[in-house]
Amino acid sequence: MFFTKTLVLSLAALAAAHPGHEQEEKRQAIAARSTMAANKRALDNCAASLNKRGLHSAAAERRQAEVERQRISRGLPINNGRVKRSSVEKRNTTDVLAKDHQGTLDGQRAINDELYVFQDEKCTVLNPQGEVGPFYVPGEYIRSDLRENELGVEIFIDAQFIDVNTCEPIVGGWFDVWNCNSTGVYTGIQSDMNGNGDDASNLNNTALRGIQQTDENGVVQFLSMFPGHYSGRVNHMHVVFHTEATVLPNGTLTGGNVPHIGQFFWDQDLIDTVEATAPYNINNQSVTLNSEDHVFGEQETEGSDSDPVFNYVYLGDDITDGLFTWIVVGINTSASYTPTYSFELTEGGGVAVDGQDGGGFPA
Ligand SMILES: *[C@@H]1O[C@H](CO)[C@@H](O)[C@H](O)[C@H]1NC(C)=O
Ligand SMILES: *[C@@H]1O[C@H](CO)[C@@H](O)[C@H](O)[C@H]1NC(C)=O
Ligand SMILES: *[C@@H]1O[C@H](CO)[C@@H](O)[C@H](O)[C@H]1NC(C)=O
Ligand SMILES: *[C@@H]1O[C@H](CO)[C@@H](O)[C@H](O)[C@H]1NC(C)=O
Ligand SMILES: *[C@@H]1O[C@H](CO)[C@@H](O)[C@H](O)[C@H]1NC(C)=O
Ligand SMILES: *[C@@H]1O[C@H](CO)[C@@H](O)[C@H](O)[C@H]1NC(C)=O
Repeated sequence: MFFTKTLVLSLAALAAAHPGHEQEEKRQAIAARSTMAANKRALDNCAASLNKRGLHSAAAERRQAEVERQRISRGLPINNGRVKRSSVEKRNTTDVLAKDHQGTLDGQRAINDELYVFQDEKCTVLNPQGEVGPFYVPGEYIRSDLRENELGVEIFIDAQFIDVNTCEPIVGGWFDVWNCNSTGVYTGIQSDMNGNGDDASNLNNTALRGIQQTDENGVVQFLSMFPGHYSGRVNHMHVVFHTEATVLPNGTLTGGNVPHIGQFFWDQDLIDTVEATAPYNINNQSVTLNSEDHVFGEQETEGSDSDPVFNYVYLGDDITDGLFTWIVVGINTSASYTPTYSFELTEGGGVAVDGQDGGGFPA
């Protein structure tokens, strides 16, 4: 927490010393929010047509079926838990923080109630450009299971992407994700700001990173591990969305356009529950809450309609049985951003690259 405050103060001091820089940041933030508001209005206009075409109810059925598959594959009872569904409208950082994203199932309830848990009344529109952070690694593999040998709480992710310009699912787009492991270390990079900076073997480690293509419903699914935390940041997942990219023979991606860069989050009480379990609980880096995290606030939710927080249900009775998480995302496919990076995965393994301006604080 001390680290966060110091960092915020020093950035503020820096901005004050460079008024031109501050004005430019403000201009960009205002421009980003008005773009976001336009996206949101466009998507609100989509809601009726998406419902009419049964997109929402189809998604609810898919999520329910997937939860059952995940439970069966883990030897867990198919139904369990309590019904709890918050319908708080999200509008701003404080509202997103206050919203409870948990929906739990009740074995005693009728099937329609279960569907209700998975039903999205509205799509989430994300702020146009959140932070990519310095630890993006291009060239990672197209695959759905990112766990490798990492330990922690498993998360099954169901994400659906809607084009705010057409109200259609984005078919054939690419969802590129990465997050740190349970003790707050990213794979694929080597840095003093990331675990043991002398550990070169981490360069060839591909765990918790991967890319999947959206299907005819704009849907992508991943199996990964709930991220831990590191100094200055709350637990989060990084997201880059690609369109019109090319698949290489070795199962990696190249080229195309990036209409979205951002980060996804989880409810604070869920984070606290996960962090109390092993091996998250041996991580002694300082803790940052959602309410203190600059990306959660300024970058992704403040003064916007964005809700970049995963909905979720427990797969079993215990958090260690894993989570099913889902999110519906509106993206302006006409937008275009350039992710920066300092490391790349190549046929020779992970390598540092120069001149991509990806250095600096872990974000
Ligand atoms: C989508 O992005 C394009 C290019 O930046 C912009 O011209 C257009 O207004 C955006 N559409 C919406 C709905 O925000
Ligand atoms: C997280 O990753 C680092 C680097 O690969 C590794 O040293 C550490 O043991 C990992 N944490 C756990 C709990 O496996
Ligand atoms: C954090 O834990 C590691 C080993 O688990 C230890 O080496 C290090 O000294 C600890 N750091 C602090 C600040 O307690
Ligand atoms: C959003 O929250 C900020 C403080 O976090 C506040 O200054 C602003 O007025 C709020 N905006 C709206 C539209 O409520
Ligand atoms: C995949 O193939 C491309 C094109 O040949 C190459 O540049 C890249 O290094 C390869 N990546 C891996 C992980 O083998
Ligand atoms: C990473 O793997 C490549 C082969 O794929 C190997 O040549 C290289 O030495 C490895 N790097 C490290 C740091 O272990």
